[in-house]
Amino acid sequence: MKLGCCYYPEHWPESWWADDARRMAAMGLSLVRIGEFAWSRLEPEPGRYDWGWLDRAIDTLHAAGLKVILGTPTATPPKWLVDTMPDMVAIDEQGAPRGFGSRRHYCFSHEGYRAECRRIVTALAERYGQHPALAMWQTDNEYGCHDTVLSFSDAAASAFRGWLAARYGTPAALNEAWGNVFWSMEYRSFAEVDPPHLTVTEANPAHWLDYRRFASDQVASFNREQVDILRAHSPKDGRRVPITHNFMGFFTEFDHHAVGRDIDVATWDSYPLGFLEQFWFSEAEKAAYLRQGHPDIAAFHHDLYRGCSNGRWGVMEQQPGPVNWARFNPAPLPGMVALWTLEACAHGAELTSYFRWRQAPFAQEQMHAGLLRPDSTDAEAAGEARAAAAVLAGIGPQETARAPVALVFSYEAAWTIGIQPQGRSFRYLELVFEAYSALRQRGLDVDIVAPDADLASYRMVLVPTLPIVPEGFAEKLAMLACPVLLGPRTGSKTESFRIPEGLAPGALRKAIPLTVTRVESLRDGIADPGAKEMGGFAVTRWREDVASDLAPELSDSAGRGVVYAHGHIRYCAVWPDRALLALLIERMAEEAGVALLDLPEGSRVRRTASHAFTFNYAAQPVFVPHLGATLAPASWHIAAL
Ligand code: GAL
Repeated sequence: MKLGCCYYPEHWPESWWADDARRMAAMGLSLVRIGEFAWSRLEPEPGRYDWGWLDRAIDTLHAAGLKVILGTPTATPPKWLVDTMPDMVAIDEQGAPRGFGSRRHYCFSHEGYRAECRRIVTALAERYGQHPALAMWQTDNEYGCHDTVLSFSDAAASAFRGWLAARYGTPAALNEAWGNVFWSMEYRSFAEVDPPHLTVTEANPAHWLDYRRFASDQVASFNREQVDILRAHSPKDGRRVPITHNFMGFFTEFDHHAVGRDIDVATWDSYPLGFLEQFWFSEAEKAAYLRQGHPDIAAFHHDLYRGCSNGRWGVMEQQPGPVNWARFNPAPLPGMVALWTLEACAHGAELTSYFRWRQAPFAQEQMHAGLLRPDSTDAEAAGEARAAAAVLAGIGPQETARAPVALVFSYEAAWTIGIQPQGRSFRYLELVFEAYSALRQRGLDVDIVAPDADLASYRMVLVPTLPIVPEGFAEKLAMLACPVLLGPRTGSKTESFRIPEGLAPGALRKAIPLTVTRVESLRDGIADPGAKEMGGFAVTRWREDVASDLAPELSDSAGRGVVYAHGHIRYCAVWPDRALLALLIERMAEEAGVALLDLPEGSRVRRTASHAFTFNYAAQPVFVPHLGATLAPASWHIAAL
């Protein structure tokens, strides 16, 4: 795995560049991502390009033995450009324009802006596509950051109408699919359909789901336009410059599997401490992992994004110290930055790049740490990057081994649950994350895969939930020989957001003969205990009534069915709490003959084809039975297999 950093030569005097480059190389870095926000410097006036500074910056880095990852600057259109087409900005759900003065102030559907993007990307590709220092292209930066996937602009509304016409053919078909007879919502033409915002009460969930699908398609096609241009300017010597995009953490607003298919390397931006603070974790977890991050946060995304673009992935931005954007921004424990780096390698990353080289003393992110402080002295993370580089050099290149467990992840499922949660604590990402975490706590390596993935070689398959079951999925599961777990609400909706004929789990009744006759959501604090002999689980958040000839495998204390099994397939009719997940994983692993580990709290294992890595995320030393050794906080153990 290579190391790198995110660098903004345009932020620093040119006289500093050569020394920066020298220090990067000396630190063990070999990749430098640049350029992704530099439009106002690349084209200070409409049509007047200024390549000189970027030429010199790239040459300076190259002369120090570094390669560059060059970003297209389309996340930050300059003021002059916005002023030429003020309607290019996105409109938020409340109808307000998202103005100039930060970044991502564009609507994915605006054709004029898309043309400008094609123009600047073409100019950049013509200028640097052949450059020997070019190691990778990055399209844009973090699609969707700052809540920018959905836009309710005129451009979006009109593109949505075209999208609907292509999907449904006639307004009558759309009315039928959405059930628009309800509340007299029928349309006579596609021109009458607006985006689903500013309605008096909730809009039709089918309308929302299609709007989300449409918005996701717009992100994918926006990205594809850049990919096509960059590919067309590939080096004449036949070298293929891979293309990446840097995805975000805990972010499901567009279909990353779709975008991932168009790029070569899925990268993501890893801020474990910020994510712990900003997401659903309990106060106890936030305290216990304050300076380390929850032990599954980074790993979950590593495994998710590895499944997004054919296995090639990396970390484009690695948190190096306190960030500036969470509610509270603690500093990592000494050792954590190196640990996060090595953990990415253990999950098969081809690069980890720190964000950023030097902390900026100005503008929005001046409180965000870098590898260097604003005065150019080494920040704490600099030493950790060096330490990680030394360890990586010692173990050599790592190959990913196929994991025994597949966890099925669906962006459409996230939208479907988000549009109609039915109980406020039914959160898709949390459900999947908890399943992932339960697997990892038993030492299992996991591949997080799309619903259309080939599942044949896995030894256990978990589908935390999949409300809309794709064509052929039920048959695919039925053909497997390994244990499969289906979570609640799987098969509960059709493609057009209806309850399936014959009720849930719809098509999956081919795989397991049961019918969900009623569902209920439970407020926080309600916990119906499971039957005594069954592992101490409780039913919280969500439960389903099931009609079936199958006798339940697990029941609650009142005798209501909780889990049903039919051959190799299980259906869990409740929100599975940690105890229930642990119990089900134990049973499935036993059936599959997969060995489990007993890991102490906070420690995790991950294997490549050649090495086993053990990490300690706990803030105290832990004794790790399979190593027969104690690991200090924020430390690791690496053994050749
Ligand atoms: C990312 C973004 C970077 C920077 C960073 C700060 O979301 O891509 O440009 O803002 O966060 O943590």
